Amino acid sequence: MNEVSSAPFWLAGNFAPVSEEGSHQELKVSGEIPKDLNGLYVRNGANPPFGKSLDWFLGCGMLHGLDIRDGKPHWYRNRYVQTPLLEQEMPEPKTRSVLANSIANTHVIGHAGKILALAELNMPIEVNDQLETVGPYDFGGKLNGNMTAHPKHCPVTGELLFFGYAMRPPYLTYYRVSADGELIQQEEIAVKGPTMMHDFCITQSKTVFMDLPVIFDMEERAKGGLGIRHDDDYGARFGVMPRDGGSNDVKWFEIEPCYVYHTLNAYDDGDEVVLEGCRMVGYMAKGMVKPPIPVPYQWRMNLKTGAVTERQIDDLGIDFPKVPDALVGQQHRYGYFAEFGKMAPTVEGFHKYDMRSGARQSHMLKNGCSGSEASFVPAARAASEDDGYLMSYIYDPNDDASHLAILNAANLSDDPIAKIHLPVRVPAGFHGSWIEY
Ligand SMILES: [Fe+2]
Repeated sequence: MNEVSSAPFWLAGNFAPVSEEGSHQELKVSGEIPKDLNGLYVRNGANPPFGKSLDWFLGCGMLHGLDIRDGKPHWYRNRYVQTPLLEQEMPEPKTRSVLANSIANTHVIGHAGKILALAELNMPIEVNDQLETVGPYDFGGKLNGNMTAHPKHCPVTGELLFFGYAMRPPYLTYYRVSADGELIQQEEIAVKGPTMMHDFCITQSKTVFMDLPVIFDMEERAKGGLGIRHDDDYGARFGVMPRDGGSNDVKWFEIEPCYVYHTLNAYDDGDEVVLEGCRMVGYMAKGMVKPPIPVPYQWRMNLKTGAVTERQIDDLGIDFPKVPDALVGQQHRYGYFAEFGKMAPTVEGFHKYDMRSGARQSHMLKNGCSGSEASFVPAARAASEDDGYLMSYIYDPNDDASHLAILNAANLSDDPIAKIHLPVRVPAGFHGSWIEY
């Protein structure tokens, strides 16, 4: 690979797309893969098929999957999510506005036996467990709008909760899907305007929406601009709603203006709802040269008094937050994050925060290696919240190839428990899931 490049960061180094789809078996392993790992680790990311794109977020989605059974890697394969946009050199916003024309590059999740590739301005695209595309998925004809790339799976009820936002009214729609995959609730939620809502949260009893001042400007968009800007007059608020409620049930909490791409989690705590996430100040503000760094942050919203207390947990720039799937909406102690480099969103290491004390353990990558988002996978008979593994695709420039690192979540600074070596590289990407067999 060419190390010196004038290309934008998302087309250089390990952000650059790979040119082939492949399937590989008999993968080399260093260390020992825990025997209790049985599942598919699959991660999505932008991989522009013609080698160019206007932005990191605008390349067509490619899935990278590793099938692990009984302590052995079964296969690795990478596949494009097949959509009509793969034919286009640079997918235009106009063609992307067709619901099924998803760029499908942001996340991939499993629910009720389906695997869905997601991008927030379109409907989901179903793939099978071999990562071959099945096609657009509309929950039996019931979904006729966009679906966020960050739905939340409730570990207690098995429900999948999500929303879709849009640049034109209705700006926000909320959905609830049962454990067996039936879309059982759809509600329009009133927000102030076309806010770019990338994520949201659930607790055991509530849904929390983020109505924040990074908005779509349709006039600027019509002139060919990016059409996303910080609106200093918009305000900033979180909306807390019973999970089976509607727009009239939302209780809004004004917060200090900020933007949050990714939440870590939320939970009920007596009269309060606690939300933690990665907070940025001044994102997309006029004159922004580069995005502000997101820092770990906590908001406590008191449903009785209406008061909000805010607290920064640390000043380190981190993102890709995760809690164990079993604690989504439940009280957690630990949060897992990735640290980005100063020049580009290159994952240089991982941190585990004790969100109560702010103490952290770190696993920084060495020898020029760079990572991806990490997923937490619990040990089979986990004795504690952090008894499990962090998994992430790591790129090693020294052999121009990637491996899946399996880290010890309880002692994150330890050397990896195992590495599954791939004969190819996996480009830096976005979000992934561990889908247990
Ligand atoms: Fe995201």
